[in-house]
Amino acid sequence: MNQLIAGNWKMNGLSSDLTEIETIAEIVATSAPQAQILICPPFTLVARASQTAAGRIAIGSQDCHPGICGAFTGDISAEMLRDSGASAVIVGHSERRQMHGETNADVCAKARAAWRAGLLAIICIGETEEERASGSHLDVCQDQLSGSIPAGANAQSTVIAYEPVWAIGTGKTPASQEISAMHAHIRHCLTGRFGSEGASIRILYGGSVNRGNAKEILALPDVGGALVGGASLKAVDFHAIFSAATVPPS
Ligand code: PGA
Repeated sequence: MNQLIAGNWKMNGLSSDLTEIETIAEIVATSAPQAQILICPPFTLVARASQTAAGRIAIGSQDCHPGICGAFTGDISAEMLRDSGASAVIVGHSERRQMHGETNADVCAKARAAWRAGLLAIICIGETEEERASGSHLDVCQDQLSGSIPAGANAQSTVIAYEPVWAIGTGKTPASQEISAMHAHIRHCLTGRFGSEGASIRILYGGSVNRGNAKEILALPDVGGALVGGASLKAVDFHAIFSAATVPPS
């Protein structure tokens, strides 16, 4: 499966920023990159972003409620996202886990909601700086994986994003060997639970990916793409990152 380069715009983006999506969509239409390209703008731009993208790149969202509809003021269901043109949703981002108290069980319910609506679930996991310093990072990520991924996951429905919390928005990235070791561990957990399906679920790396480090990170074994925050906001930077995607072995 091709690498997936996903942009997470977080709480950034006004109507005027749709030009960045227009530019990326044009680049993709003319250059046909190896990677699959996805941008997840804020809720307010999903419908217009998907019109702008016109199928040339995929548009996703950054969170969803586990329910279909009902009295949940301020929440958005996976079905609403699908209806707005989204084809994917990020769930369990560390900012949601930390600032909104989301548990593994919450994340699991949201991933199930994504599947129910026909969306790709991008399930995020990752350790804090303290957890890495104490040497518990592998166990922490294993627990997040087992609690956050619903039964029945497969490569069509699910992507895992490994994002060390300490690398997000800090400009710090793990050493290549550290990324490789964690991705190998995640792969081991996925195949242990899902068998051959687990072997093909893509594992993205996220956390301070930029035009300078993308090539090295995307060339690592078991790195199935990247989840990019700050460097996805401008087409010129995002283009440099997705141009560095590698062709998967056939
Ligand atoms: P960053 O964010 O690339 O700005 O570090 C990544 C993310 O939080 O998904």
